[in-house]
Amino acid sequence: MNIVIGADHGGFALKEEIKEIFSKQGYVFTDLGNTVYDANDDYPDFAGAVAAAICEGRAEKGIIVCGSGVGACIAANKFKGVRACVCHDTYSARQGVLHDAMNVLCLGGRIIGIEPAKEIVSGYLQAQFSDELRHARRLAKVLAFEK
Ligand code: RB5
Repeated sequence: MNIVIGADHGGFALKEEIKEIFSKQGYVFTDLGNTVYDANDDYPDFAGAVAAAICEGRAEKGIIVCGSGVGACIAANKFKGVRACVCHDTYSARQGVLHDAMNVLCLGGRIIGIEPAKEIVSGYLQAQFSDELRHARRLAKVLAFEK
């Protein structure tokens, strides 16, 4: 699975921790920046890079970390085919993929620490969209809004 990840200064530290921990578990991340801590960088630059990768089919799942997760989520959802959500609990992170085909997880580096983030990211990465008819029907209705 191709996974893209990005963060601004508000999420940089958490992004680095997530990459380190999950790389050891065999996940491979393409880091779309920021690759250095820069207190003056802007979250849309990295949210846009992650969202474009999903939109263009270069990755299946994305993770964006900013201070709250909110700005990243707003920016990412401007891209066609991107279904980004802020999830700071494990239930939403898993169900968001199973039921709603969420393909970008947004986290707030100023909101949660690495221990809950580990469980959230783990649930998100392991989950797959359910093939149950009702979820496919609902996703089709959501996708129709993009047209
Ligand atoms: C940056 O200071 C902060 O505004 C940003 O990381 C994010 O929280 C926006 O939603």
